[in-house]
Amino acid sequence: MNRPLFHPTFGSRPAQIIGRDQVIEQFMSGLTAPIGSRDRCTFFVGQRGMGKTALLLELAERAANAGFIVARVTAYSGMADEIIELIQRNGAPFITEDNKKIQGIEAGAFGFSFGLTFSETVQKQYGFRTKLTLLCDKLAEYNLGVLILIDEAATSEELREVAITYQHLVGEDKNIAIAMAGLPNAVSNVLNDKVLTFLNRASKISLGPISPASIHVYYTNAFEQLGIIANDSLVTKAAEAAQGFPYLMQLIGYYTTQYTKAGQHLDDSHLMLAINAARQDMEQNVFRPILTPLSAKDLEFLKAMAMDNGVSSSSDIAKRMNKSNSYIQPYRARLIDAGIIESPRKGELEFAVPYLADYLRRKEPDPDL
Ligand SMILES: Nc1ncnc2c1ncn2[C@@H]1O[C@H](COP(=O)(O)OP(=O)(O)OP(=O)(O)O)[C@@H](O)[C@H]1O
Ligand SMILES: [Mg+2]
Repeated sequence: MNRPLFHPTFGSRPAQIIGRDQVIEQFMSGLTAPIGSRDRCTFFVGQRGMGKTALLLELAERAANAGFIVARVTAYSGMADEIIELIQRNGAPFITEDNKKIQGIEAGAFGFSFGLTFSETVQKQYGFRTKLTLLCDKLAEYNLGVLILIDEAATSEELREVAITYQHLVGEDKNIAIAMAGLPNAVSNVLNDKVLTFLNRASKISLGPISPASIHVYYTNAFEQLGIIANDSLVTKAAEAAQGFPYLMQLIGYYTTQYTKAGQHLDDSHLMLAINAARQDMEQNVFRPILTPLSAKDLEFLKAMAMDNGVSSSSDIAKRMNKSNSYIQPYRARLIDAGIIESPRKGELEFAVPYLADYLRRKEPDPDL
């Protein structure tokens, strides 16, 4: 498949996944671990743009090549039906019915009328658990497992249904695995859900920033492939400007190729133009959508944080807002929920998105925000 080397689009599959080798390896070895093992139920946790969707896309392909029928969905109402349909659709090409079964109506006795299409009775009268069980059994006859991938995981009745069904099927020894990805607080709400206590045994993998060294290697190879001549110190500068943030890494790479063509030398002024253009896109595509739904007080909170260079203390923020510590708690909690800030240690707060503090410092009060 020919994907462009730099592809700065949310939810897209990059040409190459950078800096996640260990995570991918751990997940893939989980798929060969005994049914019900910890690594067969994985939660990927990461802030906006950290590459959750990109990783799920990569895992979907790898798992498909390793004998799994994959259903990748976004957590929303209707996902249980969609999971069933995707397994049927993705699994169908592997099911070869012999002629007798094709002609024999009695195949319905097994729950299917043809291939992975359910009999009318099953289709109409049975729910998610029965359907998924039937699909697992049928696919197992062909040595295929089932992998459910859920993006943007957050607590809901339907997510509970899917998770509980997974647990039941594990109990019945079906070859099934599940992985979910979401923002830190959304995932921790799922893990702490009273009904889903068994998920505490799941494996939890944090998708942090990508190391500057990995980005450096990626840029070096990409520039070489594209015929852009770049000296090492400029590649270092580009890699550092990405701040480990995959989306920014894609943007800086993309704009570099807009300003410097094949056969040309990358120079400092072009790189600075590329970095600035990338930051403007970040403002448009990440900061604005993040800030627009916030209340005036939420913004005041963030601006109070932006006065610090790096880590802020909760009590300083309360002082700057002329409020008590308890007054600011709901704002703090909501901003953490939204994945905009995080609390690395008790009493401390940090921006979760690179350059957001800098943007807020530069930004005059804006009636549009
Ligand atoms: N490991 C990676 N290597 C290379 N590029 C990546 C990687 N992870 C993500 N990207 C790229 O970064 C951008 C953002 O990634 P993605 O959409 O997966 O983020 P996300 O965590 O799902 O964000 P959100 O929380 O908003 O859904 C995309 O352009 C994607 O291709
Ligand atoms: Mg995503």
